[in-house]
Amino acid sequence: MSDVAEVARPARKLTTLADLTPSQIEAIRKIPAEKDAVVVPFGSTRPNAIFTGQARYDREQERIFRRYPVPVTVSALLEPGSIVANDSYGFPMLVSRTRDGTIKAFVNACQHKGSKIIEDCAVHKQGRMTCPYHAWTYGIDGKLIGVSRSEAFQGLDKSQRGLIELEAREWGGIVYVQLNRDIPADWSNLSQQVADDFDALGIGSAHVYGRKTFDLNANWKVVLEPFLEGYHVQRLHAASIGDRFQDAPNIVDMFGPNIRQVSGRIGYVPEMLDEDPAANVHKLVTHAYTAFPNCVVVTSQYYTSVMLLMPRGPDRTTVEYFMLTPEAAATPKAEEVFARSYELILGVFGGEDFRAAEISQQGLNAGVPQETIYCGLETNIIRYYEAIEALL
Ligand code: FES
Ligand SMILES: [Fe+2]
Repeated sequence: MSDVAEVARPARKLTTLADLTPSQIEAIRKIPAEKDAVVVPFGSTRPNAIFTGQARYDREQERIFRRYPVPVTVSALLEPGSIVANDSYGFPMLVSRTRDGTIKAFVNACQHKGSKIIEDCAVHKQGRMTCPYHAWTYGIDGKLIGVSRSEAFQGLDKSQRGLIELEAREWGGIVYVQLNRDIPADWSNLSQQVADDFDALGIGSAHVYGRKTFDLNANWKVVLEPFLEGYHVQRLHAASIGDRFQDAPNIVDMFGPNIRQVSGRIGYVPEMLDEDPAANVHKLVTHAYTAFPNCVVVTSQYYTSVMLLMPRGPDRTTVEYFMLTPEAAATPKAEEVFARSYELILGVFGGEDFRAAEISQQGLNAGVPQETIYCGLETNIIRYYEAIEALL
């Protein structure tokens, strides 16, 4: 397969080394040449039940996904005066950006009888929305602004019937929402360093070139694992992108339960970093993050992938994939290149990583292996699991 990413050269600001945070630069400077990389043998295991059991799923829901704010979309999806519905956590939600730029989230349920107000998942650029059932109208700030045949209601106070608001915040270009209204949002698991890194990568100011939802028959951690290890890359991706990446451990940093990995592309040697200060740093290195608890960010040369892995059951996950580009394609050529990049990356993640997750889940559901085993090229999985397990 040709490397379409290599030919995507829109005339724009590329990310240079100097654009990155000091912490990112420090990490990159630790990446050795592949021949100098050291793999330390490692052996750790996890029981089958963490990927298959209802008890573990329920505990994760209670202690993590319905306790702490969770990522629901990317900031770049919503320009001022727009709104989108999101059901990916199995919870009807609306996320809007008001005209003054503030992000808001609501339960997608009408205050008359609970009907969903927006049923599709398209982004709507509009200041108000109308319930399909009896046509109550709400502003995208959640206020109830119109009740049809309002004279027929006795004692209806519109100011008391606005949409139910959920706590929401943007964090490095990712929109987080607290789903559980009984618990005040605790933002302490989100890392300021990760937000600063994401800002340096331009995630918040990017353009959403494409987004796609995958409904996978796999546990969310089975879906996550390939984004925490390089062991599979030259093997699972042998026919696509495998030969572009080193078969070596990543440089890793943890910020609370958040993980940042950087790795050299094939042929990378540290001297390359300082050859051309104007060079696109992502020609040399790849960033991969798991932001708490389930947000994966992977850089490519000319675009960035954001994936939200939303658990729906012990062996079911909804993945929302976003391909972010620094700006919309300015020419037909750039559009063609973005389109081919999008096709390539959906093929790699969807057709290879997600497929691996689904076929692994089938074995796990059959009880095999009784425990998964992790080697010295997979240590980041265990680091991340330990951080998650500390919250369970
Ligand atoms: S349920 Fe929304 S207007 Fe009746
Ligand atoms: Fe992969």
